Amino acid sequence: MKLNPQPNLSAKNYPMWAEILEEFGIFTDTIPNSFLETRLRMRMRVHGFDDFHHYYNYLKSLHKNSMEWRVLIDSLTVNETRFFRDPDSLSLIEKFLLSNQYSLSKTQHSIHAWSVACATGEEAYSLAIIIDKNTRANKNIFFGITATDISHSALTTGKQGIYHKSRLTNIPSYLRTKYFIPLDDDFYQTKLMVRNRVCFSRLNVLQAKNAPLGKMNIIVCQNFLIYFNLDKHSLILDTLVTHLAPGGLLILSISDVFNWAHPALEKINHENTLAYRRKADS
Ligand SMILES: C[S@@+](CC[C@H](N)C(=O)[O-])C[C@H]1O[C@@H](n2cnc3c(N)ncnc32)[C@H](O)[C@@H]1O
Repeated sequence: MKLNPQPNLSAKNYPMWAEILEEFGIFTDTIPNSFLETRLRMRMRVHGFDDFHHYYNYLKSLHKNSMEWRVLIDSLTVNETRFFRDPDSLSLIEKFLLSNQYSLSKTQHSIHAWSVACATGEEAYSLAIIIDKNTRANKNIFFGITATDISHSALTTGKQGIYHKSRLTNIPSYLRTKYFIPLDDDFYQTKLMVRNRVCFSRLNVLQAKNAPLGKMNIIVCQNFLIYFNLDKHSLILDTLVTHLAPGGLLILSISDVFNWAHPALEKINHENTLAYRRKADS
């Protein structure tokens, strides 16, 4: 019996996939070929294509907001995340909130924070919990979190705010009780008091330069730059700085960034963190 050979994503075809996926914020040189090939094949099987070219032409014929593009992009992203993933960064945010005018202010103040690649929302809700906990006593303070990602399915989970109990283990139990409602079947949902503070929105960070985000007091961009080449790091980080308010805090992952500096920022010394403050006069 003669078997049909499995189609391969050949080196010849690879650049055209790299080019088209880059438009959606996916950088193929940071994901293994085998992963890309498997994910493309899964979608091809759904539509009955046995040739990468045919699937490519099909995608090209579709609107960029079409369901097929969404499903493909979602399948190529890695949404691994956790609540309170980086306790040292959260303790820096607490310090920032307490040492700032926020804790004492007698005039109205708002705090805007941005979780840049929020995945399924755990980072954004962790921020909301920490800010709420440290500002609740002061009625003059309003805060809001903008949570962005390119993955539609991850954002949908974030908006619902429903998580299995196994995902909540890093959260101190008094905060779990205060900010989560137990549902049936071992699931918990974030309480409205924090859910109402987080606004989830789809954004490709590479297109964030002119996004109407306003000026942020806190930007958290963690476990994200690893998906990009080093030459994209500066581009992304410089863009984040344009959205940072004077005096604002930018928090990155210690393992993500090499040799980057910005004239408007000063580095903050805080244990096991990579963080910067925007100079007040910049
Ligand atoms: C590993 S998760 C990081 C989640 C969270 N920041 C944390 O530290 O736990 C990386 C996220 O980056 C998102 N992502 C990848 N490329 C992106 C892009 N170009 N723009 C926005 N988000 C992107 C993925 O969808 C994924 O949810």
